[in-house]
Amino acid sequence: MESKYVIVFSALIFSLFNLGETATTGNWKLLKKSIGISAMHTQLLPNDRVIMFDRTDFGQSKITLPKERCRKLADGRIDCSAHSVELNLVNRNVRPLTVLTDTWCSSGALAPDGMLIQSGGSNDGERAVRTFRPCASCDWKEDQKGLVVPRWYASNQILPNGKFIVVGGRGQFNYEFIPKSASKLDFKVFALPFLKETRDAVENNLYPFTHLSPDGNLFIFANTKSILFDYKNNRVVRNDYPVMPGGVSRNYPSTGSSVLLPLKLGSSKSTIGAPEAEVLICGGAPPNSYISAIKGTFLPAANSCGRLMITAKQPKWEMEQMPIERVMGDMILLPSGDVLIINGAKKGTAGWYLAREPVLNPVLYQPKLHKFEIMEPSKIPRMYHSTAVLITDGRVLVAGSNPNKNYNFTEQFPTELSVEVFSPPYLSSGPRPQISWAIPETQLSYKQPISIGFTSKKKADLGNVYVTMVAPSFNTHSFSMNQRMMVLGINQVRQVSRKSYVIDCFAPAIPNIAPPGYYLLFVVHNGIPSLGRWIHIS
Ligand SMILES: *[C@@H]1O[C@H](CO)[C@@H](O)[C@H](O)[C@H]1NC(C)=O
Repeated sequence: MESKYVIVFSALIFSLFNLGETATTGNWKLLKKSIGISAMHTQLLPNDRVIMFDRTDFGQSKITLPKERCRKLADGRIDCSAHSVELNLVNRNVRPLTVLTDTWCSSGALAPDGMLIQSGGSNDGERAVRTFRPCASCDWKEDQKGLVVPRWYASNQILPNGKFIVVGGRGQFNYEFIPKSASKLDFKVFALPFLKETRDAVENNLYPFTHLSPDGNLFIFANTKSILFDYKNNRVVRNDYPVMPGGVSRNYPSTGSSVLLPLKLGSSKSTIGAPEAEVLICGGAPPNSYISAIKGTFLPAANSCGRLMITAKQPKWEMEQMPIERVMGDMILLPSGDVLIINGAKKGTAGWYLAREPVLNPVLYQPKLHKFEIMEPSKIPRMYHSTAVLITDGRVLVAGSNPNKNYNFTEQFPTELSVEVFSPPYLSSGPRPQISWAIPETQLSYKQPISIGFTSKKKADLGNVYVTMVAPSFNTHSFSMNQRMMVLGINQVRQVSRKSYVIDCFAPAIPNIAPPGYYLLFVVHNGIPSLGRWIHIS
């Protein structure tokens, strides 16, 4: 009798322990049934509001503009529906915004002062530069001639000087800088033959993957090839990166995705300014997948990923295999340093009506362990024109999907107006560390010592405490422009009372490592991040 009781009791304890300690495979929550538009482009702002927009020539959306803000279309009709909204993450309010010119397949980035600067698109928007200042009543401002040449499917990257390089676009084998200043150089278009060289019959090199290397040069990947590029002197610095193996195209329309893996910053004089940089590219489709899909045959997407140490003397692709093949997957850097691969399909490519078999399960990739893990599925397919971004609380916001020519709610893959959030397993694997204070509080300068106080309900293993900084990225077409994460160099972690700890660490050393602007700061303990805290570096 007694021993049976003991067994039952210990089983109970064991299952309680499991409840608190065992990581799940994440979970989903519907945040908003409809925001009125389909989020083709998404950006989190430092005021915890998310700006989303689709395109202006889609027809009527499901959210109306105040009367005085209706737009007159090229054909004379009046459109009083909004094609951009602001979602307030605190109270879930949706505010309609006014984009005037066509934002279809455009690009963007967050400026050092927190302003969203967004460029290009189609039709009357092909040369537009639009700005959105984070404030409760602000709206879009547009300069219809903000770009020198039209840019449709280009990529934007913030630079160490706080300006942006805009790379490529359909038929544009060149780049330019925005926003324009009085400088003559700003009105110049610089040739980039690499974009012509990597183009194939269906232009499998649009929305090129761009990552700022810690040496200040720009890593550019297009289709299967990559270069390291000195944009200041219009010079290819390295062209010895091998072709990515797999026989797969990785850029639009054979859309894969790419991230710069977390930069691990040192804390000693010799290491603080020179971290290694590694790029991870996952998924994509065979080069002929687009043509084949147009003819009605949906080819299987790629299940390969590749890792390339772009700062290595002899760089080599290290290939990995995902448990699920995927085209149009988004790759999101989580504050823990892991990568979430989410959204997309198993067959076909990007483009209207060109994909089948949505992949409902995200996959979590742990770069340190080279390990993939399949997560809980969503119920909502997120196909072409869907988006995903990390939000302040460490969850991932997922929105959009519209593989149709216009708003269509009866198609096989209907236009999706909903917003979901995915909670990675770290949010159900134990108590979160809580940041209690930071010195400096919000404004950092380069190389500056930072002290952070945090509390944890669980005894902290001092060797397993990290501080990470994540840049809020601009997500569209499965690429998060300017996505960037630094693991700060730690001097020491000490316990100051039973549940509180102090971390002494260093801000990134130079703007090549962390371009000026806003970042989310997280304390990560045993793989579990705190809530993000907005900080600014300049
Ligand atoms: C939506 O898609 C269905 C199925 O293809 C089609 O019959 C219908 O005409 C479409 N509706 C609109 C408004 O385009």
